[in-house]
Amino acid sequence: MPDYLERTREAWTKMSAEYLEPGRRHWSTDEITWGIWGVPESELGALGDLDLLRGKDVIELGCGTGYVSSWLARRGAKPVGIDPTPAQLANARAFQAEFGIEFPLIEAGAEEVPLPDASFDLAVTEYGASIWADPYLWIPEAARLLRPGGTLVFLRNSPIASICTPNEGVATDRLVRDWFGMNRIEWSSHEPEEFHLTTGPMIRLLRSCGFTVEDLIEVQAPVGAQTRYEYITAEWSRRWPSEEIWRVRKEG
Ligand SMILES: C[S@@+](CC[C@H](N)C(=O)[O-])C[C@H]1O[C@@H](n2cnc3c(N)ncnc32)[C@H](O)[C@@H]1O
Repeated sequence: MPDYLERTREAWTKMSAEYLEPGRRHWSTDEITWGIWGVPESELGALGDLDLLRGKDVIELGCGTGYVSSWLARRGAKPVGIDPTPAQLANARAFQAEFGIEFPLIEAGAEEVPLPDASFDLAVTEYGASIWADPYLWIPEAARLLRPGGTLVFLRNSPIASICTPNEGVATDRLVRDWFGMNRIEWSSHEPEEFHLTTGPMIRLLRSCGFTVEDLIEVQAPVGAQTRYEYITAEWSRRWPSEEIWRVRKEG
């Protein structure tokens, strides 16, 4: 088990109640949106042609309340959600019962998933494995789980947002941490560590796992956007991308 995982799981056990309201809000709609600004998939096109999702095997790596998988299930995909935090899986199970959409949920970290090689056509994560797991562990695992030609789509904070954000503070218009060597960050002693690998090493890692980069979508906050998160403002995210979505394909 990775050294950080127990602490992350404890933190997510405590935070899980706060994710019921956003979880229910997301489960309540059919519209696919991305990230803290809720930008519609119809504008970003991260998943490609949604009609092609029908019948596809999908794994969500760090599914939390499971709403991303629910959106894909409604489009005919066959998702499996994995998450290491039992309390978050309990939330996902409760929403499955409430909304009548069922798919398998497995307790596991994205670094080691108890499923066979080449089982999925699409792997997806929105603020799941993409920031909570070490990319040097979860990206090779995603490559193992995908079939040749399969796609990995992940949303995370942009590295530029991370280098502009001080510990225990809000993003500024200054570079406040080093770019070189950035990956594992402890924002404060009372929060679990996160992973924010910079762009060059991320491309190199993806390529070493057999992925070709198809797109890197820099997400701009819409006019008038609001968020309950305190580490970033809409004003900042109108000027610079606070989030990014990678779409990469496993070579066939
Ligand atoms: C913000 S939620 C993201 C999921 C979903 N988009 C949501 O908002 O409900 C983050 C999830 O990542 C999970 N997580 C933490 N560490 C993980 C790891 N190593 N591998 C996979 N998921 C992890 C947490 O348990 C939590 O449920």
